[in-house]
Amino acid sequence: MLIAGLTGLEYRGYDSAGIATIFEDAFQVRKASGRLCNLEEELHKHPVSGHVGIGHTRWATHGKPSVVNCHPHCDHSGRVAVVHNGIIENYLELKEMLMRQGIVFRTETDTEVVAQLLGYYDQGDMLATLQKVLPMLQGSFALGILSLREPEKIFAVRLGCPLIVGSADGASYLGSDVSALLEYTRDMFILEDLEIAVLQEKGIAFYHPDGTPLEKKSLHISWSASAAQKDGFDHFMLKEIYEQPQVLLSTLKHYVEEETFTFRWDTLPFTKEQALNLERITIVACGTAYHAGMMGKAMIERLARIKVEADIASEYRYSETMSGEGETLIAVSQSGETADTIAALRKAKERGHRVIALTNVIGSSVARESDAVMYTLAGPEIAVASTKAYSTQVLLFAVLAVALAQLRGQITAQESADYLRELFSIPGKVDAILDCRPQVEAFARQQISCKDIFFIGRQMDYYTSLEAALKLKEISYLHSEAYAAGELKHGTIALIDDSTLVVAIATQEKIIEKTMSNVQEVVARGATILLVTSHPELDGAGIAERWLVPQGRDLFLPMLTMVYMQLFAYYMALQKGCDIDKPRNLAKSVTVE
Ligand code: M6R
Repeated sequence: MLIAGLTGLEYRGYDSAGIATIFEDAFQVRKASGRLCNLEEELHKHPVSGHVGIGHTRWATHGKPSVVNCHPHCDHSGRVAVVHNGIIENYLELKEMLMRQGIVFRTETDTEVVAQLLGYYDQGDMLATLQKVLPMLQGSFALGILSLREPEKIFAVRLGCPLIVGSADGASYLGSDVSALLEYTRDMFILEDLEIAVLQEKGIAFYHPDGTPLEKKSLHISWSASAAQKDGFDHFMLKEIYEQPQVLLSTLKHYVEEETFTFRWDTLPFTKEQALNLERITIVACGTAYHAGMMGKAMIERLARIKVEADIASEYRYSETMSGEGETLIAVSQSGETADTIAALRKAKERGHRVIALTNVIGSSVARESDAVMYTLAGPEIAVASTKAYSTQVLLFAVLAVALAQLRGQITAQESADYLRELFSIPGKVDAILDCRPQVEAFARQQISCKDIFFIGRQMDYYTSLEAALKLKEISYLHSEAYAAGELKHGTIALIDDSTLVVAIATQEKIIEKTMSNVQEVVARGATILLVTSHPELDGAGIAERWLVPQGRDLFLPMLTMVYMQLFAYYMALQKGCDIDKPRNLAKSVTVE
């Protein structure tokens, strides 16, 4: 069961794994470096018993990936075992304090400090011990704790990192996200910071940080367990790329009436009055979600005529940016648990801004801490490389842009309906692009020896380029860069030669000729050109390959273009033999700063 749970969380990224069970008044601990299969092998050689246990996949922060540093960690006396996500920032100070008391440390990790502290103070009542120890910890944590003095219990507590518990059929479970628990229960409890859960066979008791009992409501998760299976696809990433038509449609239908092309206003986070009073929107996010935010900026500014900034969450959280009245912050996050995005939204709240979450995970931290939420209905995204979450995020920005434009009187109800009708055509067009998969695969095969890839485009095509380059980098480890096409000649064109592949994206009518001039500049330097365009008339000299994007309004074309780019990244990574769903060094959900 522990291995199955860890398998459900494997997509989050890790470099070692371990478990501990309690059997006959002792811990049985097994650990292995690398993939979970190594731990399974270890368990075949040295099986464990017990009906109370904890498991962990570690992504190294303090101390290299190794068997000794991997969790669970036990205290000096061997009576407490701990698994931990997060970072204990003051661990050195605490470690020195414990060492002065004669405690001997075995690992380089910050987590061992937690195990040692709990072991040092525990007199047989872990709930009381936690009340003493938790205030000593600075940083972030989600902890699963076993104590030999209370062998029928598992203690769980978190600060800043997600932790979810649930019980069903005479068993209780904890996990760092819902995927690990889906097989057992859909009714889960999401722990808030410093709330303590005590899990037992008969159920779960909750406590406030001061130890007084707490009543908690469960949250029903509608995702099915099979949504987290590969369903015959070789990789989750490919499966998720192929799910896009369906998840785009279900997301759209949640916000818009398909029969009338009108909004379901109660699902949107703005009233007419709020929309009219809006002076500025800031969008914060990380990675792919940030790129979706850039699309959001373009669409909202163009349709609703509101000033929008898109900022990287890790920058925004420390910025001294000028902020004003009437400002709303939109935090975009697939997981809803990205540490920098959560910190950015907290900063915005301190500044008195209204905060709207755009997230995929019901009950996630970003959702819970925001004033209003728009959910992408993408279902669980397992591959580290975000695909369907990105496209549904961009779709939601399109919905929001049209809605705000209508509420602010920038477009009429009829114009709004025309935009919405067009949005309903997107899933079918995505399907048409997916049919071009053999062409994408064949071209990727020709590029096997390619070392540098540049993605160029202007405005929204540039934003697509940023996301295309990120997708390629993270799963194929190929060097790639995105450039605003007009900026190339200000330095970077010096890198272009006959060994470079340049992917030129040209869908935005107004500036298409400009981008094509930039294409000629790189053709002249001998680069191989892949042109991705909605304009069939663009072809000719120097263009090695052309992929056609179905036609439509410029504003919505990036949702289509990106599907080609996802497939391209996938096939480049496939032929390089990369671990596509779990790329090196990456975690799906970045819950530490
Ligand atoms: O869960 P989030 O959307 O907040 O994650 C943000 C980024 O870490 C994420 O988009 C990352 O860039 C993806 N791996 C990209 O595919």
